Amino acid sequence: MFPERFSNLPAYAFPRLRALLDAHEPGGEVIHMTIGEPRHAFPDWVAGILAKNIDGFGNYPPNDGTPELQAAISGWIRRRYGVAVDPATQVMPLNGTREGLYNAAMALIPERKHGQTPVVLMPNPFYQVYMIGAISVGAEPVFVPATKETGHLPDFTALPDDVLNRTAVAYICSPANPQGAVADRAYWTDLIRLAEKHDFRIFADECYSEIYRDDPPVGALQVAQDLGTDPERVLIFHSLSKRSNLPGLRSGFVAGGPDCLRRIKQLRAYAGAPLPLPLQRVAEAVWADEEHVIENRRLYREKFDIADEIFGDIPGYHSPQAGFFLWLPVEDGEQAALKLWTETGVRVLPGAYLARDVNGFNPGKNYIRVAMVAPKQDMRRGLIRLRECIYD
Ligand SMILES: Cc1ncc(COP(=O)(O)O)c(C=O)c1O
Repeated sequence: MFPERFSNLPAYAFPRLRALLDAHEPGGEVIHMTIGEPRHAFPDWVAGILAKNIDGFGNYPPNDGTPELQAAISGWIRRRYGVAVDPATQVMPLNGTREGLYNAAMALIPERKHGQTPVVLMPNPFYQVYMIGAISVGAEPVFVPATKETGHLPDFTALPDDVLNRTAVAYICSPANPQGAVADRAYWTDLIRLAEKHDFRIFADECYSEIYRDDPPVGALQVAQDLGTDPERVLIFHSLSKRSNLPGLRSGFVAGGPDCLRRIKQLRAYAGAPLPLPLQRVAEAVWADEEHVIENRRLYREKFDIADEIFGDIPGYHSPQAGFFLWLPVEDGEQAALKLWTETGVRVLPGAYLARDVNGFNPGKNYIRVAMVAPKQDMRRGLIRLRECIYD
C-alpha cells in the first residue's frame, strides 16, 4: 500500500541524468557542470567556531533558533533590505531553504479554499520541492511557464480568475534557478497586488540573492514593506548554501509574519529537525560577515564574464543577471547533454528535467542548464568544449 499522490512523480533530475549518460563512456576529461553545489571556499574561520562550540552536540538544539542566531539573521535582513523584523517572532533558522520551502507548505496551506481544492502556483521550470510541497498537502500544483517570452519569470497575472481565487500560495524564485532572471520592483509590486486581490501568500525563494553582478536584487520583503503589505502575505527563504559556500552546513532561514512563523515553528517542534547548536553558532557568525560574500561575488563575476566571452555571439544566449547557472538554448536538451558527454566528457543537465510537461509543452526541452561552479580554468575549458561541440 503506497500513497497515490506521489505515484506519477518522474524520477528526480539526477537519477534521470545518470540513466541518460552513465551507460556511455565520457568522450574526454570529465567536467561536472550539472549540480548547483558551490565550490568556492567557505570562510576559514568556520572551523574554529565549530571547534569552540563542539560541546553543543551534547544538547538538543532550540527549535526556534538561539536568540543570537535570530538576532544575526534579523540584523542581516535590516542591513540588506532595510526591513526591521522582530528576531523572536519573525524569523526561524532552517536546515537549508529546501526544508523550509517544504514545511511552510505543510504548515500554511489550508485544506480548502472557498470550498475548493487549493492551488499552488509555481514557475515552470522550477525547483522541485515546490511541487512536492503542493502535492503533499493535497493542493493542485499549477505550473506557469517562465520562458523567454515572459522574461524568464512566470506571469502569474495572466492566469484566469478561477485559478487565482483558488490559489493559496505562489512560489517564486528570484534570482531564478535555472534562468538567472531577477524579479524587479515592478514585478514584485504586481505579484503582491495580485496576492492581495486574490488572497494568497507568496513564498519567495531568494537563496541566490547574494550572487549578482552589479546591483543587489530587490527583495520581496523590501517591496512588501514599501507597499504597506500585511506581513503575513510574504515569506522569504534564504540560505548560506550559495551566499557563503556552505551547502553542507544545511543552514538558512525563513522570515515573515508572526502568525505564519508561529505555525511553522510549531510544526517543526512536533516533527522537524532543528539545526544542531554548534551549527547555529557557525551560522550566526556567517550571517554577520559580508567580506567573504563580496569575495565570492567577485569570483562569480569572473565566471559570468568568461561565459559572456564564450557564448556572447550565440543567437538566443542570455547572460544571467544573477545566480550561477547558464540556461543555454539548444535544439533538444537531452540530445545535447548526451552528445556533449560522449564527445567531450562535459556533463550538463537537460532543461526538461527541471520542468513539467503541460499540454504537451515542456519549457525546458530546448535548453541545457550549466552550473558555473567548477574552478575557473576547468569551467573555461568546459564551456569552450561545450561551444565547439554544440554550437560551432
Ligand atoms: C532554487 C533553489 N531553492 C532552494 C535550494 C535549496 O538550497 P538549500 O536547501 O541548500 O538552502 C536550491 C538548491 O540548489 C535551489 O536551487
